[in-house]
Amino acid sequence: MVRSSPQNAHIGSAEQGRGPRCCGIVNAPILLIGASSGIGLATAKLLQQEGRAIITAGRRDPGLGAPHITFDVLTSTIPTDQLPTELGGLAYFPGSIDLKPLRSTKADDLRAAFELNVLGAFTTVQACADRLKKVPGSGIVLFSTVAVGRGMAFHSSVAAAKGAVEGLTRSLAAELAPTVRVNCIAPSLTRTPLAEKLLSSPEREAASAERHPLKRVGEADDIAAMAAFLLGERARWITGQVIGVDGGMSAI
Ligand SMILES: NC(=O)c1ccc[n+]([C@@H]2O[C@H](COP(=O)([O-])OP(=O)(O)OC[C@H]3O[C@@H](n4cnc5c(N)ncnc54)[C@H](OP(=O)(O)O)[C@@H]3O)[C@@H](O)[C@H]2O)c1
Repeated sequence: MVRSSPQNAHIGSAEQGRGPRCCGIVNAPILLIGASSGIGLATAKLLQQEGRAIITAGRRDPGLGAPHITFDVLTSTIPTDQLPTELGGLAYFPGSIDLKPLRSTKADDLRAAFELNVLGAFTTVQACADRLKKVPGSGIVLFSTVAVGRGMAFHSSVAAAKGAVEGLTRSLAAELAPTVRVNCIAPSLTRTPLAEKLLSSPEREAASAERHPLKRVGEADDIAAMAAFLLGERARWITGQVIGVDGGMSAI
C-alpha cells in the first residue's frame, strides 16, 4: 500500500504525482524498486536530500517517510493502481551476485538470475512506461555489473543475466526516445548487503581493493551519486548508455 507522508502528501491526493507542467521531471515522483538496502537505499536518501519526491516499492518498507508499495518482483508485477498518473523516473535495484564454477551452475541458477535481474526489470518498465511517457525527459535506470564488459571467472549466471539487462537498456532507450531516457549503471564490487560475503574479512576486502585502479571497493553512495544524476534534469541528453562506476576496473 502507498502510505502518504508529509513530505510526499501530494502524491496520495487526486493530483497524484502531478507537478506543474513547466517543471517536468523536477516535480514528478521517482519510483524506486528495492530501496530498503544497499544502493537503492543510498539513492533514495540522496534524492530526498535533493528535494525530489520518491515512491519506494519492494518487499520491505525502507522507512524513509515516503509512500511505499509492498510487492515482490518474483511473484507479481508492480500494482499500478497504487501509482500516481505521472512518474518522473524509475530505478530498478533488485539483483544478484551468485558466483559459482561452471560445473556446479545449474539451469535453475540462470533462470533465477534472469527472473530477478531481467524479467523483473522488464515487467516493471512495461507497467510504468505510460506514466513515464507523460513526463518528457523522465529517466529509467537499470543495473548491470562490471563483469559483463570484463570476463570474470564464476560469474556466468550473473554476467549472462546482466548482459541481457544491457541489451534491454539500449532497446528500450531506442523505443522510448525521445520522451523517456533509459540508462544502465555497471558497478564493480560495492559494500552492500548483497556483497557482504565477498567482503567478509579484511583480507578479502584488501584483495578486492587491490584489483581496482582506485584501490578501494565501492560504497553505496558512489553508485547512488550516478543513479541520482541519471534520474535528474542534468542528464537530459544522455540515453542508451551503460556507465561503469567501478573504480576504473573496466577501463584500466
Ligand atoms: N553490490 C555490488 O557489489 C554490486 C556489483 C555489481 C552490480 N550490482 C547491482 O546493483 C544493484 C543493487 O545492488 P545492491 O548491492 O544495492 O543490492 P541489495 O543490497 O541486495 O539491495 C537490493 C534491493 O532490491 C530489493 N529486492 C530484492 N529482491 C526483491 C524482490 N524479489 N522483490 C522486490 N524487491 C526486491 C531489496 O529489498 P527487499 O529485500 O526489501 O525486497 C533491496 O532493497 C543490483 O542489481 C546488483 O546486481 C551490485
